[in-house]
Amino acid sequence: MIGIFDSGIGGLTVLKALKEKSPQTDVVYFGDIKNAPYGIKTQDDLKILTALGVKKLLENGATNILSACNSVSAFMVLEEIGLLSDVPFGIVEMINPTVSEFKNHSGEILIFATPATIESGAYQENFRKHNVEIKTFPIAELAGAIEFGADENEIERIIDEATTGVSQDNFDKVILCCTHYPFFLDKFEQSFKKIGRKVEIFDPASVVAETALSKFNNNVGDGELKFIISQDSPNFRKMVEKHFANYNYTIEVI
Ligand code: DGL
Repeated sequence: MIGIFDSGIGGLTVLKALKEKSPQTDVVYFGDIKNAPYGIKTQDDLKILTALGVKKLLENGATNILSACNSVSAFMVLEEIGLLSDVPFGIVEMINPTVSEFKNHSGEILIFATPATIESGAYQENFRKHNVEIKTFPIAELAGAIEFGADENEIERIIDEATTGVSQDNFDKVILCCTHYPFFLDKFEQSFKKIGRKVEIFDPASVVAETALSKFNNNVGDGELKFIISQDSPNFRKMVEKHFANYNYTIEVI
């Protein structure tokens, strides 16, 4: 069973891509809503939360981990606390499949992400290995606003502020390196249009899901889909209902 991990609804973008490609794959999904948003927390706090989250997934039957959260590195945390061997079939994270997709890109790439992701330096370091130029821009408020269902005007305001902040930069591609953001990919497009920029915006969900399915090819079962959340949330339930109506699923608050 694949265990997917995020602070809340963000990882649903990756889960959706994965289930569309392989409906019969068994998945347990943990959303740590009680501690969301992750992107404005310190690396020390995130390490503890990641360790606890992965432990919950393992206790609930996961044999592999798909970290659908850019703000933490599950691999590094598990390595540090010696839990890596408890994940027999390994870990897939957002960063490698995403960087790999653009390793031969010649123009500059703009990365929108949480402050925690950008402060970790992980994308900068990995793109540097391929000599791909990136510019990073943190959006502190957006993941929380999306997680807790802020109204669309508020979300639009935050996205407009971000696109205005990069309006003078010379990029030809934008990657949404926070799994919460693709729920509003069209708003990013409209916002760039407002400032007269036409750019391609990339959601990594599909390439990450593909990587997980090819690495974890031992999970095809009855299509079990189990959500566990650390705090009840009407918005989480609404999003699950909206995107997974065609699947049998359970939601448990722990
Ligand atoms: N969706 C996660 C990410 O990709 C976490 C966002 C947050 O909770 O701030 O970074």
